[in-house]
Amino acid sequence: MNTPAPTQDELKAQVARAALAYVEPGTIIGVGTGSTVNKFIEALADVKGTIRGAVSSSNASTERLRALGIEVFDCNDVEELGVYIDGADEIDGGGHMIKGGGAALTREKIVAAQSRRFVCIADASKRVQTLGAFALPVEVVPMATSRVIRQFAALGGVGRVRLKDGAPLVTDNGQHIVDVSGLRIEQPREFELTVSQWPGVLTVGVFAFQRAQVCLLGTPSGVETLTF
Ligand code: A5P
Repeated sequence: MNTPAPTQDELKAQVARAALAYVEPGTIIGVGTGSTVNKFIEALADVKGTIRGAVSSSNASTERLRALGIEVFDCNDVEELGVYIDGADEIDGGGHMIKGGGAALTREKIVAAQSRRFVCIADASKRVQTLGAFALPVEVVPMATSRVIRQFAALGGVGRVRLKDGAPLVTDNGQHIVDVSGLRIEQPREFELTVSQWPGVLTVGVFAFQRAQVCLLGTPSGVETLTF
């Protein structure tokens, strides 16, 4: 009898456990946000006594970490983190990612920038040739959303303000998210530089400067380790 293919959820759990190998005892680690990271936080329960604590990229992850008794440090009180572990919405062959599906992109970029190594944990569906099939999240100051949407239209993208319960979603930073579909991001660094300079853009969800150095990719035949 054939073994059934693992579900997406099982693939996420596999990579979450594999990421424990990157957690160095006695250190403070960076922890991202999302359903894959939630599984990583669950796995962290087994080794929580070996780490000093975590810097978290969202209120949601902070709550989960604290519920396990893991100390969560303010980013300002920690100079450098050895490793940042987070998921992605898309990752290309150079370790560049689209992130922000969970609306936590700004804090994710900050914690990633503060870490020596970004270990991305993702199921195989996230691996793409070219970024852009997933609608690109951009965190925007509310008074600039229409203007930013027009700027994306000039690049061929269709931007929409993300809603929650019928009203614009408000991020942990009090801003809005514009999701942009129809883009093909062939030059992630140039794209990130350009959009980051548009007035009102707090963070663009392309992670090229804060790209991953390692990706643990969950595939039906096991966890593949990609290095960039
Ligand atoms: C959160 O804002 C995102 O950047 C997540 O890392 C990304 O959306 C991946 O989330 P999942 O692990 O839920 O797919």
